[in-house]
Amino acid sequence: MDLKEKIDLQKLPKHIAIIMDGNGRWAKNRGEMRVFGHQNGVESVRQTSTAAADLGIEFLTLYAFSTENWKRPKCEVDALMSLLVQTLNSELGTLMDNKIRLKAIGNINQLQPECYRQLLETMDKTKHNNRMDLILALNYSGRWEISQAAAKIAAEVKAGKLDPQMIDQDIFKNYLETRDIPDPELLIRTSGEYRISNFLLWQAAYSELYFSSKLWPDFRKDDLYEAILDYQNRERRFGMISEQIKQVDNK
Ligand code: IPE
Ligand code: IPE
Ligand code: MG
Repeated sequence: MDLKEKIDLQKLPKHIAIIMDGNGRWAKNRGEMRVFGHQNGVESVRQTSTAAADLGIEFLTLYAFSTENWKRPKCEVDALMSLLVQTLNSELGTLMDNKIRLKAIGNINQLQPECYRQLLETMDKTKHNNRMDLILALNYSGRWEISQAAAKIAAEVKAGKLDPQMIDQDIFKNYLETRDIPDPELLIRTSGEYRISNFLLWQAAYSELYFSSKLWPDFRKDDLYEAILDYQNRERRFGMISEQIKQVDNK
């Protein structure tokens, strides 16, 4: 029985988020420039997105460029931005064939203009697709997202539109980039690094974390299936005790 068939389709995570890491090391291992790793990461994006959509995952968020990634050498940043434009263009067919709607989170209007334009265009062309939302985190960081939410809330309080007494987790959530997206049940990071790197800090409060030793350009459908199977074997307690969870499951 292959891995895919072992997955319980009744217990799928609705939302999977991935920190795609290890492109640079993958290229270095082959004596190539870092950008070669990024180029080869595109196939992993294609495989992961189509496999997730085929399974029935509703939301897939991919961390593609962090706020901190601007600190990389300019030539790498430029190469990443042109690769993004090129890929959005060349993968439109894949998105349409698989009925995948493209969305983005992050400070996207601060991306390079050509990138921003291409992103808006692809989001617009795919907006009626309804099998899965593919959300690219671009110029994104969790702390940026939380602080800009706080700033928006402060402005509404100042304008008399919001009563500070009313602010709770549910209200706060409405000011995040992910206001319409459920929290990820499963958060995957590749490349054997064990950290969050400023990704979905609010949303990952109760995510199950899965660390793969594969470098991102080596990540394939079976690696995604393995992560989902691992997730399905876990007990999510949300602060309760095991017996309470079993009671809920048996209802
Ligand atoms: C992930 O791979 C891609 C981005 C962060 C844009 P890296 O470029 O971080 O690769 P490593 O971690 O240096 O190997
Ligand atoms: C996280 O990877 C950001 C993305 C995958 C886009 P990094 O490679 O930038 O993270 P650090 O620097 O290892 O924490
Ligand atoms: Mg990295």
